[in-house]
Amino acid sequence: MKVQVDQDRCQGHTLCAMIAPDIFELSDIDGHATAISGDVPSGSEKSVREAVASCPEKAISITE
Ligand code: F3S
Repeated sequence: MKVQVDQDRCQGHTLCAMIAPDIFELSDIDGHATAISGDVPSGSEKSVREAVASCPEKAISITE
């Protein structure tokens, strides 16, 4: 699974980084999230799916 955050959509709601802190980090500059690594370890797939569902801006996308 691969994950990425659309920087145009992200508004810094931080839910993704709270749900999957090993996958998403927040910028100190604008508070927007980025995926630390585009490749999701198999043990983190569930939390990444939760993050996708939780983002109010629908900014996170995954590809299988
Ligand atoms: Fe951005 Fe959504 Fe996370 S708005 S900070 S990708 S919860």
